[in-house]
Amino acid sequence: MSSNVGLKLGSLSLDVPFFQASLSGYSDYAMRMFARRFGCPFALADVMLAKSVARPEVLAKACFQPGADEHPVGAQILGETAAAMAKAARALVAAGYDVIDVNCACPVPKVTRRGRGGALLDDPDAAIEIVKAVRDAVDCPLLVKLRIGMDYSIRSQDNFWEIMTRAIEQGVDALVIHGRTVSERYRGKANWDVLASVKKRFPSATIIGSGDVFDAREAIERMKRTGLDGFVVARGAIGNPWIFRDLRCVWEGRPVPPPPDLAEQRLILLEHLARVAQGHPEHRAVGYFRKFLVFYARRHPKRRHMLGALMKAKTRAEVEAGIDAWYGDAGDRAGRR
Ligand SMILES: Cc1cc2nc3c(=O)[nH]c(=O)nc-3n(C[C@H](O)[C@H](O)[C@H](O)COP(=O)(O)O)c2cc1C
Repeated sequence: MSSNVGLKLGSLSLDVPFFQASLSGYSDYAMRMFARRFGCPFALADVMLAKSVARPEVLAKACFQPGADEHPVGAQILGETAAAMAKAARALVAAGYDVIDVNCACPVPKVTRRGRGGALLDDPDAAIEIVKAVRDAVDCPLLVKLRIGMDYSIRSQDNFWEIMTRAIEQGVDALVIHGRTVSERYRGKANWDVLASVKKRFPSATIIGSGDVFDAREAIERMKRTGLDGFVVARGAIGNPWIFRDLRCVWEGRPVPPPPDLAEQRLILLEHLARVAQGHPEHRAVGYFRKFLVFYARRHPKRRHMLGALMKAKTRAEVEAGIDAWYGDAGDRAGRR
């Protein structure tokens, strides 16, 4: 084992300095469960709209409930009013979530137009009112997710530093910062130099970086180089739970195993499909699973052909038959042709 320390999120200690980010539309129970199986110590659920999950009949739905076997697990909340955010945080902790994360990062226009997510970066008073209300509402570890600003203007940078300073004063346990501005959305490269400067300015705060984590070795080297306390894995984990196994190996100084072969990928795909089918009616399950399939397909030697065939499958049985054909013996043969 390495002598490296992991990551502390308030009272929660992780043995490694990374975890799985909130990914709207993806980070459901199945994705979190696979992440955990491959070595991820903690994961955030899909972002939840505070005013919805503050209602008991909504929060009671299976998709909003944490799994009994997945602790620690975190809930991320999105909203524009302090009262709704505090109420949702309290309800989510009562439902079993171990960590609350306040979203001040989402760049999607239909979210920002309502003063939620990334729009809070333009309004330090509103952002801090929410952080304070949530901090007062719950005793568990509290995270705030932000981007490095609305844009690169001086005004936006001032707002960012003000929110950081005041959020830390409020007793936030860690700040998870995506190294892009809201206006950049996902364009270009994440700016880890800015993230390094944030850590320099707030050396005693727990600063967790986000952005372009696709390769285990590179991610850990970057974290060490920038002096950040940890990082989250986001797109790099979709259809790729093996990234956590690789990250753990690099972190613990063990050799990284070879990538999963088609037979191993096939088993995970079939299990993932079965999990999805448990939670959705068949026609929805197939459509929903396709989103993950596109990412799993990246490892397939005949990606285009495989996807062309599998995306046409309409029933669970057809998807399974396609997975067997492309990842079983037939797929193996196709890969070698
Ligand atoms: C499809 C998608 C959904 C996302 N949903 C959320 C979300 O709900 N909450 C959040 O804080 N970040 C969300 N993010 C941002 C990621 O957590 C992460 O900060 C960002 O993708 C940068 O990391 P990456 O380049 O390693 O993917 C989302 C990103 C993507 C691509």
